[in-house]
Amino acid sequence: MMDMKACYDTLRKRKEKFGGLYFFTEPIFMPVDIDLIKNIMSKDFAHFQGHGFTFNEKYDPLSAHLFNLEGEKWRNMRVKLSPTFTSGKMKYMFKTLLDCGGPMIDHLNGICDKKEEVDIKEILACYTTDIIGSCAFGLECNSFKDPDAEFRTNGRKVFTVSFRDLLVQFLVFWSPSLPKYLPIKQVRSEIESFFINAVRSILDYRTTNKVKRNDFIQMFVEMQEKAKAEGAEGLTLNEIAAQAFVFFLAGFETSSTTMTFCLHELAFNQEVQDKLRKEIREAYQKTDGQLNYDAIMGMKYMDMVLEETLRKYPPVPILNRRGLMMDMKACYDTLRERKEKFGGLYFFTEPIFMPVDIDLIKNIMSKDFAHFQGHGFTFNEKYDPLSAHLFNLEGEKWKNMRVKLSPTFTSGKMKYMFKTLLDCGGPMIDHLNGICEKKEEVDIKEILACYTTDIIGSCAFGLECNSFKDPDAEFRTNGRKAFTVSFRDLFIQFLVFWSPSLPKYLPIKQVKSEIESFFINAVRSILDYRTTNKVKRNDFIQMFIEMQEKAKAEGEEGLTLNEIAAQAFVFFLAGFETSSTTMTFCLHELAFNQEIQDKLRKEVRDTYQKTDGQLNYDAIMGMKYMDMVLEETLRKYPPVPILNRVCSSDYKIPNTDIILPTGTKVFISSLGIHRNEEYYPDPMKFDPERFTDENKASRSNYTWMPFGEGPRICIGLRFGLMQAKTGLSMLLNNYRILPGKNETYDMEIDPQNFVLSKNGTVMLRLEKLST
Ligand code: HEM
Repeated sequence: MMDMKACYDTLRKRKEKFGGLYFFTEPIFMPVDIDLIKNIMSKDFAHFQGHGFTFNEKYDPLSAHLFNLEGEKWRNMRVKLSPTFTSGKMKYMFKTLLDCGGPMIDHLNGICDKKEEVDIKEILACYTTDIIGSCAFGLECNSFKDPDAEFRTNGRKVFTVSFRDLLVQFLVFWSPSLPKYLPIKQVRSEIESFFINAVRSILDYRTTNKVKRNDFIQMFVEMQEKAKAEGAEGLTLNEIAAQAFVFFLAGFETSSTTMTFCLHELAFNQEVQDKLRKEIREAYQKTDGQLNYDAIMGMKYMDMVLEETLRKYPPVPILNRRGLMMDMKACYDTLRERKEKFGGLYFFTEPIFMPVDIDLIKNIMSKDFAHFQGHGFTFNEKYDPLSAHLFNLEGEKWKNMRVKLSPTFTSGKMKYMFKTLLDCGGPMIDHLNGICEKKEEVDIKEILACYTTDIIGSCAFGLECNSFKDPDAEFRTNGRKAFTVSFRDLFIQFLVFWSPSLPKYLPIKQVKSEIESFFINAVRSILDYRTTNKVKRNDFIQMFIEMQEKAKAEGEEGLTLNEIAAQAFVFFLAGFETSSTTMTFCLHELAFNQEIQDKLRKEVRDTYQKTDGQLNYDAIMGMKYMDMVLEETLRKYPPVPILNRVCSSDYKIPNTDIILPTGTKVFISSLGIHRNEEYYPDPMKFDPERFTDENKASRSNYTWMPFGEGPRICIGLRFGLMQAKTGLSMLLNNYRILPGKNETYDMEIDPQNFVLSKNGTVMLRLEKLST
């Protein structure tokens, strides 16, 4: 698969000047053309000043270092620090470097005597630790004599990236504003106190005892004295500690790594080694065995060898600046424009396969389903029972559960539930009538969320939710909570995606405890009530009860309470926001396309007339134009814009020699396909005529996949459509839908939401019509 360099190579081969890749939800711009790179790094520096790492200076003082600073703060600090790195200052420090080399040579002599091999990385890490400890912190570190010296131990800790660190790094990269609001510490407390204390005591010691040494700390001391003398504000202890810390961070591993690579190459290239040694020995001779700064700097061949090492092994392989935008659909578009049948993108360290060719997509979703059975979401069933639902299940467990649940969604069962949908529509219309009278605009997203909550609460949990009468009703509140993605949830989602085996070993809960207990208790009490009181209702819970009774009668093992609760929960999760979002987008389009609205209202009113004002399931399902309008809505705005699969056994991509290894994640951009002008000319136009029988027959089924495709296609498709059609019929029969005064036709999509939705509210004006 691809890595960051491979991404560069691919762009280069295609003679692109720039390109993009995706890092989780974060689009990354990658310039390739050298002139463009030059502009970004130098000429147009004003647009690209920072590295894009944010931090909370108050809570995380060591992060406020030169590498992380931006804007004025960065400029001021850079100006202050630059004189520290002149060649004059380097000369001062040169002796320290030689002094730190002595113990290294002694240590290596000992190993040579024993004829042992050396771990050169560790040796060089000790050497650079001693140098940086001495030059940046004024400390004798003695890493060779005492491998557990405090400085080396802390150095090791800084570079031992823990699970926590990866988490924090990822989060901050992903959401750069987080550290502003949350007390996120990028430098662990123990490391922070070690470094701040080291700097504090050395500053105290130097000023109290008037000791001077040729090191960075000395320069900070002088900077402070100068500021004091000029009455200017000097750096604070934390600011000094942060800069000393970054000298350590940036100087230690980059340098030891460069030397390690260089020695590796010299070991395999003896001629180069001999030539370099010759130059070094001559320099020693010229200086009577005592190297000095100028002699070191005068070695031409040394420069060339190091330059070549840094070319082949740049210790910082990616130079980052924040810039332009690109999204997953753009990735699909790019691949398509290049006439690729498939491609890849990078999601943090995770490579993703993206098929573009419709036949290949068809194979993945249907014909070769055996290789792509799962969605790739793992969970810990014991610890996180509500996650064991159909969407997450895989293999045999998924197959068994799907077989058990499928009869719940037949059109016969839908007919039973239809009355509930009408019943839930009543309070919505009453509520909207009230708003209409006041001539206020309505936040239609919230209205429809209440409507679908009431329906799913009623159909999946057998509860009267009353979201309209009581906006803080328990069910709506828990629904809101389930969809309010918290910081913790993002954390967990990312972690589990990134390392799917984690939930197997760690007690990770994807469903929060309070939501879990609410839903499990709701299901438990409703099951108890129904069985004790022999109450029957036309809903999903009833079907579960019947399933249990049948299993009991046949001596089979039925579903456990947790299993039932998990399935009811996914009906809620998968059914609620997808459906309310579909209706919201549809009403938005109807508000801006009055002709389509009128045509649809005519069909709705004809249907009401035919059924004497009492809609029924068959009448709703018979509305042809309603189908076309909804199909067009779901084309332009597929609520689930990316369909995903994970490769469960190695898969040879047809007509190629490429094998997709087991575990590869596959993302199919349904949004990209739905807005591909090859299938849908002028794709941003809302045109239900695209879905006449004739037009539909001219395209592959796989060009319209709002519900997915193949054996894993949405199990609730019929229910979702019935819900949307009923809600829309009731609304259109009662009101003319108009855009709110601040609404614009083009809308900004919420980049954070998993389900495609508009960023912010969707405000509409409703005019009451006589019925
Ligand atoms: C407009 C409404 C809806 C849309 C657009 C929608 C979309 C989808 C999509 C795209 C998938 C994934 C399919 C795939 O991977 O190929 C899915 C799966 C699923 N949906 Fe829906 N859905 C809707 C309504 C519902 C409703 C109302 C329910 C339940 C009452 C529901 C329950 C499920 C379940 C349980 C799955 C997992 C199926 C499996 O993995 O076997 N959905 N849905």
